[in-house]
Amino acid sequence: MDRLEIEGFIVLKGALDRAAQKKIRDDVRDIAKAAPFYAPLTPWGKPMSVKMTSAGRYGWYTDRKGYRYIDHHPNGTPWPAIPVSILSVWSDHVSAKRPPECCLCNFYGEKARMGLHQDKDEADFTWPVLSISLGDSGLFRIGGTERSDPTQSIWLDSGDVVIMGGEARLKFHGIDRIKFGTSDLLTQNGRLNLTLRVVE
Ligand code: SIN
Ligand code: MN
Repeated sequence: MDRLEIEGFIVLKGALDRAAQKKIRDDVRDIAKAAPFYAPLTPWGKPMSVKMTSAGRYGWYTDRKGYRYIDHHPNGTPWPAIPVSILSVWSDHVSAKRPPECCLCNFYGEKARMGLHQDKDEADFTWPVLSISLGDSGLFRIGGTERSDPTQSIWLDSGDVVIMGGEARLKFHGIDRIKFGTSDLLTQNGRLNLTLRVVE
């Protein structure tokens, strides 16, 4: 495992071996059976290119009413529990005492991207957001605390973990594009990103 630090973002290249990646992939399939991926709508009424679902006490949600956390899937069922395989990545790298309350699951198909944004819908920014990348590689853009700050980019590959905490907690970040077909972890290609968040 290589540890890089870029503007406070800690990038753990190859943090998860193939067996760990497969277990998490299978557990996300189970999450999706209980809480299917859906196409979220931005507050401006535009569908996002990324498909989303969540596990945990809260799921991150967006529609015309804005960004927020909700305690059930849009179909009305409670979010499934966060699987142990995913919680253990948090306890290995962040805290064994304080579990996250949300695992946001983002699926990127061939043309999907995520614009530069800050993660600031949580109550306590002293906890980091931990991201797990699975499947095809994604070009991760890292900026500063202002949208106009200079940015730099790094490819995130399957098994990489990023910790966005400390000075990086409120920095802008996004995914510019996917290198479709670069990994055989997911049967239908694409990229899966999981972000673990303390919400309350
Ligand atoms: C996010 O910022 O919510 C996702 C980042 C990523 O897909 O790597
Ligand atoms: Mn984010």
